[in-house]
Amino acid sequence: MSFRATFDNLTAEDLRATGAMKWSLPAPTIGAFVAEMDFGTSPAVQAALVAAVEKGCFGYTPDPLIREVQDATAERLLRAHEWRVEPSDVHPVPDVITVFEQAMAQTSAGSPVVIPTPSYMNFFNAAATAGRRVVEVPMVLDEAGRHTWDLDALAAAIRSSGAELVVLCNPHNPTGRAHTRAELEAFAQVMTDTGVRVFADEIWAPLVHAGHRHIPYASVSEQAAEHSITAISTSKGWNIPGLKCAQAVTTNDRDREQWRNMTPPLAHRTSTIGQAATIAAYRDQSDWLPEVTAYLEENTALVHDQVVETIPGARVTRPEATYVSWIDLREADAPEDPATFLLERAGVAVTDGSQCGAVGQGCIRMTTAMPQPILREVIGRVTSALRTR
Ligand SMILES: Cc1ncc(COP(=O)(O)O)c(C=O)c1O
Repeated sequence: MSFRATFDNLTAEDLRATGAMKWSLPAPTIGAFVAEMDFGTSPAVQAALVAAVEKGCFGYTPDPLIREVQDATAERLLRAHEWRVEPSDVHPVPDVITVFEQAMAQTSAGSPVVIPTPSYMNFFNAAATAGRRVVEVPMVLDEAGRHTWDLDALAAAIRSSGAELVVLCNPHNPTGRAHTRAELEAFAQVMTDTGVRVFADEIWAPLVHAGHRHIPYASVSEQAAEHSITAISTSKGWNIPGLKCAQAVTTNDRDREQWRNMTPPLAHRTSTIGQAATIAAYRDQSDWLPEVTAYLEENTALVHDQVVETIPGARVTRPEATYVSWIDLREADAPEDPATFLLERAGVAVTDGSQCGAVGQGCIRMTTAMPQPILREVIGRVTSALRTR
């Protein structure tokens, strides 16, 4: 059976039985909020996990395993994105947000952080925990209707706020953009001109749809490498965020100095089974990832087409990557708090857009990595609740 047939055949009962966060709300509510896929992980990762369990590899992180994570990561970056990094520049960390926390810690105490919005929610939470004010800079739509940065507004916000750090999320959650080289080069120029550092979150890089490419930010120019630190992970592509093993990639001497001299290294806070899974994922050249990505592309297209067709005034992203759909209901005669409304009236749990920044008020963020029969039911419930209110 092809992978997609397996995905299509999964039932809500099967998924509830996994105990996953997304499926832990009381039935019949369906979770479309947290970024998890309903499809388990690839057979290669599964086999590596079984082998690790059989070996009983549950102790503190051994150096040879860390080195293998570094090697497998560097191999993947070169193979998938033509980005050459030294394995010694790969630093295992429990999760991507840890890298953001480290990047904030390198800036002056109390200095604000600039975030283009709408944005992944936990950047705001992590900044607040670190005692940092967030300066939101709304993205704008380009002539093709795609979200992009307002570079003048970004430069002005950086200069007027005294921020030393800007968050770049590429591919972008929640708009699904896979930013082009030209966009990234122009962004990098503004960052260079304003003298800030960039936290480049590339967690979604493995899930880029056909016809688009992931361009690693640090690879676009020497200046970009000089002023950025990158975070990557197998957690979205191979659906293993609970295994806690992401990677920071250093591309300048300042970060190398900081990360190589950390004692104990953050790698010691990753899990051995997460490392085993990461190595298998980055070396996985089976059809699993391409098939999952193609399926996700269809899912985001389904959401786009059906919501646009049935809800007058709704604007829906056509993601170039990710499995996140951003639905703007501000001109769709929708309730003021659409997420609560949909939870109560449609039994679908989505993320309220306002959690993604002020610009997200009246919008919702929906994750779509579910079997298509279930996704059709979700879309049906959402559109009929909005139509009949
Ligand atoms: C853009 C982005 N960054 C970070 C994360 C969280 O990653 P982690 O669990 O590795 O901190 C997510 C999760 O959805 C995300 O979408």
